[in-house]
Amino acid sequence: MFTLPESLGRYKIMGINARNRDFIFPNNRRRFYPLVDDKLLTKKLALEAGIQVPELYGVIEFINQAGQVAEIAAPHKEFVIKPCRGSGGEGITVIKDVMGGNFLKASGELVSAGDMQYYITNILGGMYSMSGSSDKAILEYMVRFDPIFNEITYQGVPDIRIIVYKGIPVMAMLRLPTRKSDGKANLHKGGIGVGIRMADGVTMYGVQGSRFVNEHPETLKPLAGRQIPRWPFLLEMASKFYDITKLGYVGVDIVLDKEKGPMVLEANARPGIAIQIANRCGLITRTEKVDAVDIRSFTLRQRVEFALNAYK
Ligand SMILES: Nc1ncnc2c1ncn2[C@@H]1O[C@H](COP(=O)(O)OP(=O)(O)O)[C@@H](O)[C@H]1O
Ligand SMILES: [Mg+2]
Repeated sequence: MFTLPESLGRYKIMGINARNRDFIFPNNRRRFYPLVDDKLLTKKLALEAGIQVPELYGVIEFINQAGQVAEIAAPHKEFVIKPCRGSGGEGITVIKDVMGGNFLKASGELVSAGDMQYYITNILGGMYSMSGSSDKAILEYMVRFDPIFNEITYQGVPDIRIIVYKGIPVMAMLRLPTRKSDGKANLHKGGIGVGIRMADGVTMYGVQGSRFVNEHPETLKPLAGRQIPRWPFLLEMASKFYDITKLGYVGVDIVLDKEKGPMVLEANARPGIAIQIANRCGLITRTEKVDAVDIRSFTLRQRVEFALNAYK
């Protein structure tokens, strides 16, 4: 993954130290972190604010329930299991079918009941969790992605990451699963990041690992020039997370379900900086524009308008 030296400051690229020191520390109060570090809590808050999220099927909290996946998921053929406090796509499994007590992953791999129980035990033990402390396993609706992504995704659901600074969406990228990323769109898992033009929600350049890419490696279709549907609405969903969480620097992950429409997957209080490479643009060029105006009295509508107009 990219490490950006601080000397890139003259390109107004945000390095990891600047992100922590100048953006996260002053804008994200520690007591609000749990609102986004705990995916169950994020789901609850989003629903209260009228934002769609993948439906919760069940939660496994205790080791003696580790064998209950099939039971909880019984009414649903497809579902996703994830650690409540996970990040970076770690420990997420997309299940497409339950067959004779075994679980079929999106990748085509079969997981035995015993292996499933072991995996759940690992989630509960905190193996995938940010703090490493004990965790819960969430079972939820498997998003069926919008067909507009058919040509540029591989065995998984793309998501849209939007960075929201002081309530204003400032940068966005589409993340696409690849063969390597095993059903997840996270860049550290091998997903592709594609920059999105803020003004109209059209995709631009792509990046995978440390390489610029113009085509999806599996489908060989071009990444650029694709219109993200309902763009202003997605910006509004992301912007609302500022009101919900009070976090002044937050990354919001949105998916587009082909029947249910846009849903928020989660939000991040420490969003990654590679989004700048996918956009070939430094984040500081964006945040500076926000800091140059008095946005304190802006309504949600005005914040979205600002995002659509400020970044050409
Ligand atoms: N309910 C779901 N349905 C389908 N894919 C999902 C679902 N939840 C997560 N994923 C896949 O896993 C990726 C990471 O999920 P996310 O909830 O953002 O967790 P993390 O905190 O690990 O990034 C998503 O970008 C998506 O590709
Ligand atoms: Mg995520």
